[in-house]
Amino acid sequence: MERGRRPDRPPWSADDVQIALGVKHALFVATQALIDAGDEVLVAAPGWPGHAEVVTAASGIAVPVATDGEFRISAEVLDGCRTPRTRAVLLSSPGNPTGVVYPEARLREIADWAEQHGMWVISDDIYRAFDYTGTYRSILRVAPQLRGRTVVVGGVPKEHAMTGWCVGWLAAPPEIIASARLHVSRAITHVPTVNQRAALAALGDTGTPIEAAGNYRRRRPLLVEALNGIDGIDCPLPDGGMFAFPDVSTLLRDRDWSSSAELAAWLLDTAHLAVVPGEAFNAPGRICVCFAVDDDTLITALERLHTALGPTRHESAAPQLEEAR
Ligand SMILES: Cc1ncc(COP(=O)(O)O)c(C=O)c1O
Repeated sequence: MERGRRPDRPPWSADDVQIALGVKHALFVATQALIDAGDEVLVAAPGWPGHAEVVTAASGIAVPVATDGEFRISAEVLDGCRTPRTRAVLLSSPGNPTGVVYPEARLREIADWAEQHGMWVISDDIYRAFDYTGTYRSILRVAPQLRGRTVVVGGVPKEHAMTGWCVGWLAAPPEIIASARLHVSRAITHVPTVNQRAALAALGDTGTPIEAAGNYRRRRPLLVEALNGIDGIDCPLPDGGMFAFPDVSTLLRDRDWSSSAELAAWLLDTAHLAVVPGEAFNAPGRICVCFAVDDDTLITALERLHTALGPTRHESAAPQLEEAR
């Protein structure tokens, strides 16, 4: 709630917020509260698979919405997917795995579309602390008039570099919060006290999110550069988040791998590197690589990548990481 009092955020009160067992659970209760069987929810493709899963779990239909070359959805494409059953659009900025950060103009366009057609917006703000462009805005800051039809979800562990502690929240209009409270109470009674205590302690420490964002910002170009140094890999610099999302389709073709899943399995077996195949995100020719790891792990990973997939222009990242500290 402390965060709700910041002048750059809409004022939330305790009655507007429900705590949940992580952001996935917050999304789960939000969709249970919002969606009736057969309702359609528009989700970005490529995108994080958990978004479609919570819609399906609520007996809704997740409709994939094609993103543009920068992984953004537009009002025009949303409108092309709209049917009488469309209930909501699920937005995520910064996104996983694409790293997309929606600029204000695009948020405004989507907000106008939502308002015009009476759509709900579910805004997954889990990575809001990790914007490397300085352009991140919450949709409600851009379009406060949408407050009555927007559910914002977020969480403590990603921002405070304490993943696994599972404390999320949703902020929404009273009818959604009332229903979410029932869902939480029926399923888990409450978020375990130990997790709540840990979250409270974390929220008192405003330095960690800044430090974590600084570390990721420093590691991001090194990973992207190393990936781009490998023939057949094309990796855009992510605007936010903690993932690089390179196009590996040329590499797959050149080396006769049938899929990103096959490449991911090969990297795990051969180089002991874990990446997520793009198939999981509706993007078969890509892989997702996380840079939320410590410097030593990243350096080791880049060296293994170099050995496994060279020739590459990559040189040891150690001096650059040191310099950027
Ligand atoms: C976009 C997005 N939303 C939600 C989640 C789930 O977060 P949590 O681990 O807090 O449940 C993730 C986790 O990777 C994510 O990437």
